[in-house]
Amino acid sequence: MPDWHAVARLSDLQARKKKAVDVAGTPVALFYVNGDVYALHDICVHEQRQLSKGALLFGKVICPGHQWKFDPATGEPEDQDGCQPTYPVQIDADGMVHVSLERERAEA
Ligand code: FES
Repeated sequence: MPDWHAVARLSDLQARKKKAVDVAGTPVALFYVNGDVYALHDICVHEQRQLSKGALLFGKVICPGHQWKFDPATGEPEDQDGCQPTYPVQIDADGMVHVSLERERAEA
């Protein structure tokens, strides 16, 4: 059973588009892209910059470090090696966003 953590309000994320949260000690970046919420590890696989301080452009997460473009659903960078860990997200009936660390989406 995944261990779900309530981390943000959907309405807040819809307004801000991105948010850094701490999930049981793990830094996670939330992104609101085209009506869906995605959770990625906040520390870039390249050189440890914070993805939550980056930008969203054409549905991709742009790292502020060296502008790698990550697919928010898979964590795959465009034209680069390596993969950013991603986490499953659920939104409950009260509009709370929940993240589980137990299963990375990329491994599903
Ligand atoms: S630190 Fe993210 S692209 Fe270099």
